[in-house]
Amino acid sequence: MHNDIKEILLSEEKLDQITTKLAKKIENDYKDSKNLLLLGILKGSVVFMSDLMKKIDMPMQIDFMKVSSYGSGTKTTGKINIILDLHRNDLTKLDILVVEDIIDSGKTLSYLTEYLKLAGARSVKTVTLLDKPSRREVEFEPDYCGATIPDEFVVGYGLDYAENYRTLPYVAILKPEVYTK
Ligand code: IMP
Ligand code: MG
Repeated sequence: MHNDIKEILLSEEKLDQITTKLAKKIENDYKDSKNLLLLGILKGSVVFMSDLMKKIDMPMQIDFMKVSSYGSGTKTTGKINIILDLHRNDLTKLDILVVEDIIDSGKTLSYLTEYLKLAGARSVKTVTLLDKPSRREVEFEPDYCGATIPDEFVVGYGLDYAENYRTLPYVAILKPEVYTK
C-alpha cells in the first residue's frame, strides 16, 4: 500500500465487481442503440472508463471532454470551464453516456448534460463510479452509479489530489498529514 494512504475504501476486486455490474446494466439498456458514445471526462474518468468499456459487449465509440471545476486542492470553485470540447457533426445521432469519476456538488454533470442536450445529442445519460450525495449543491441524479460514499476526499483509480495518486489501482482515503505537507 502507498505510504500516504490511510484506508482503502474500494479494493481492486470490489472495483472489478462494480464495473462488471454497471457494464451489464448499460449493455442491456442500450441494446437497441446503434450509436452509443461513451464520453469520458478527463482526466479523472480514464481508469474507470477503460475498465468499463472493455466489459460492455456491443459496438460503441468513445470520446473525451475536459472540464475544470476544481482548483489544485480539495475544495470546489463551482465554476465550470470547458477546456476540451466535443467536436462532432453527428451529435443528433448519438446516444451519449457521460462517464465521470465522482459527483460532488453536482455542478459539473448538471452543466455538462444540459450543454450536450442543447447541442442536440439524441440522448444524454450519466454513469459515475462514485457519488457523494451529502455534498450536493444543485439537484442531480446519475443514471448509473458504482458506489455511494460518505463525505471524504478520495484518491486513486483515476481520482487525484493535486494531480497525484491517479494511478493507484484502488480508491482510498489519504492520511490527513498529506494535506498539510
Ligand atoms: P462537482 O462538480 O462538484 O460534482 O465535482 C466533481 C469533480 O470534482 C469530479 O470530477 C472530481 O474531479 C472532483 N472531485 C470531487 N470529489 C473528489 C474527491 O473526493 N477526490 C478527487 N476528486 C474529487
Ligand atoms: Mg473529474
